[in-house]
Parts: sequence; C-alpha cells; structure tokens
Amino acid sequence: RKVLVLNGPNLGRLGTRQPEIYGGVTYAGLAGHLVETGRGMGLDVDVRQTEHEGQMIEWLHEAADGGVPVVLNAGAWTHYSYAVADAAALTTYVEVHISNVHAREEFRQHSVLSAKAAGIIIGCGVGGYDLALAHVASLTD
Ligand code: DQA
Repeated sequence: RKVLVLNGPNLGRLGTRQPEIYGGVTYAGLAGHLVETGRGMGLDVDVRQTEHEGQMIEWLHEAADGGVPVVLNAGAWTHYSYAVADAAALTTYVEVHISNVHAREEFRQHSVLSAKAAGIIIGCGVGGYDLALAHVASLTD
C-alpha cells in the first residue's frame, strides 16, 4: 500500500532548526529512514516537504484521488490553515507533531486538523512518524 508523508513549512530544516525542540535528525535522514521503515511494514512510502500551501493542497488532492492515506505534519499551517484542513479532510490522515505542542506557545495548542484526523501523534520526536506509519499500516480501508 502506498502512503504519502507530507511535511509543511520549515520541516526541510530538520537537523539545524531548533534541535533542542526538533532533534538532530536531518530531513534527508528522516525521509530515508521512513522509506525503510515503511518497506518493513509493507508500505510504499513517498516523503515530501513544501513551503507552499497550494502545493500541499495539491498533494492532498492527489492523495484523495488515489485513495492514498497520508501522514501529515503541516507545521505552522496546523494552527490556522482552513484550506489545508479542508483538503486533508478529503483524505484519511494521521496528524503528527514532532514536538509537544501543548508544552509550547499558546498559538500551537490549537489544531484545525485534529477533529478529522484518523489519529494524532504529538511529542514523540521524529519517532512519531514511525508510529503514524504503523497506525496507517493497521487501517483496513
Ligand atoms: C510542528 C509544530 C508546529 O507548531 C510548528 O510550526 C512546526 C512543527 C512539530 O512537528 O512539532 O513547524 O508541527
């Protein structure tokens, strides 16, 4: 089964962006790791990242059209983008946040994505993506 792992703005900077919050694993390292983990679970994982909201929406439409589940870390869009939320709602998605957003600034404590998520994984570091893939692998649709 195919899975899209979609990452929003600034997540391409993993490894150098606030490593005390997001850890030291680089985006490239994470992407390679997720392809491998996915393979072990029988998943064909495609990892992408964009700074552009329209691009993210188009990828979500692609997932919706293909019936492909999504692991979604929408970065800061999580907190305010109704457009990303509407597009995500066309898919089956697991919401992921590397950091514990509830222990951080108040604006990070609301997610416009959570109500329609098939699962939410918060504060488990980059290992949260592996947990999300395991959950996707367990979905039966
Ligand atoms: C994040 C949390 C968001 O608040 C932030 O804007 C990010 C990353 C996380 O993975 O912890 O870019 O989604």
